[in-house]
Amino acid sequence: MKHLIPEFDTMRRRYPAEATSSMVLPCLHRIQDDRGFVADSDIAELTAYLGVPRIQIEEVLAHYTQFRRAPIGRWHLQACRNIACSMRGAEGAIDHLSRKLGIQPGQTTADGRFTLSTVECLGSCGTAPVVMVNEAYRENMSAAKIDALIAELSK
Ligand code: FES
Repeated sequence: MKHLIPEFDTMRRRYPAEATSSMVLPCLHRIQDDRGFVADSDIAELTAYLGVPRIQIEEVLAHYTQFRRAPIGRWHLQACRNIACSMRGAEGAIDHLSRKLGIQPGQTTADGRFTLSTVECLGSCGTAPVVMVNEAYRENMSAAKIDALIAELSK
């Protein structure tokens, strides 16, 4: 994270001194954009840089599901499990994804190609169930659509 300090210093000049803790979220986003995930060492360095308690950073990481704590595969499949998706078969879709990929949510395939995660509402409830593939939405997911998706991403 150390190479991001000049950027964080610039950001810091825009925040009142008493609002340093408000920088936790944007700093974590920038770290993840840079590294792909937030490592333990990043938490320690950000704690020291911002002078905030480590628990404050860990609470942000625990609250926002978009933060990753480990490297992910080339394709990150984030399956929504919230209520609208759940009512339209999300559990079955997630089970199907798990079987197809041979991994459980939170895991990455041995070849590093796929990471499967479950997340809360992706904001596309009208097209539930929804799976986000990296930055793109795949909607109205069925077993057949999942099969086609995995075949497409496996090429
Ligand atoms: S509940 Fe799944 S997108 Fe909203």
